[in-house]
Amino acid sequence: MKKVPTAVLISGRGSNMLSLAEAAAAPDYPAEIVTVLSDTPDAPGLERAAARGIATGCVDRAEFESRRAFEAALDARIRASGAEILCLAGFMRLLSREFVEGWGDAILNIHPSLLPAFKGLDTHARAIAAGVRVSGCTVHIVRPAMDDGPIVAQSAVPVLPDDDARTLAARVLEAEHALYPFALDLLASGRVRVEDGRCRIEGARWPDGRLASPLPCDPLS
Ligand code: GRF
Repeated sequence: MKKVPTAVLISGRGSNMLSLAEAAAAPDYPAEIVTVLSDTPDAPGLERAAARGIATGCVDRAEFESRRAFEAALDARIRASGAEILCLAGFMRLLSREFVEGWGDAILNIHPSLLPAFKGLDTHARAIAAGVRVSGCTVHIVRPAMDDGPIVAQSAVPVLPDDDARTLAARVLEAEHALYPFALDLLASGRVRVEDGRCRIEGARWPDGRLASPLPCDPLS
């Protein structure tokens, strides 16, 4: 089986990148992580990727005068790796329309909320403040607007009464680590098609029940 060469872009600790790398190490997984790139030299995820034997690199935003020049260097680096899919995993920069359109439907991003709710930063604190009972994470195809684009997969977790942003983040992160490899598998195996701005997924299994939090129980007497 030919695996689809995939690049992962990070800015930080890289735990989602590692979950992708671990999944991709399986012989029957349809993608291979060919490079991990960061926009800052001190992203801890770079060492974690190198320790797994993955080629790493940094295209340091601070070394470029403009976003255009930075993105041109980043794009050249990714294309030189042979990557055909690009996974953003805690990559803290908004990519320009030009860059994004150059990759068609081949850029994925993971966001720690059930989009379109809570785009942007501080998602967990905002979810708690809003009083939502369910939160989660989303993998979507990237479009130029922030945290926007056709949704490939989502995973929901409950928001518990005593949660703070830290405990909710930890619960969501665990879901992220399962969801991102699953979504990349769908894309790399050619099962995702974008139609009218939405993803159609072939051959996936769908839950047939409801997802609820709190769980239904006997009516109060
Ligand atoms: C994750 O919560 C991801 O959803 C968000 O940034 C965080 C990155 O964490 N986009 P890590 O670097 O993958 O550990």
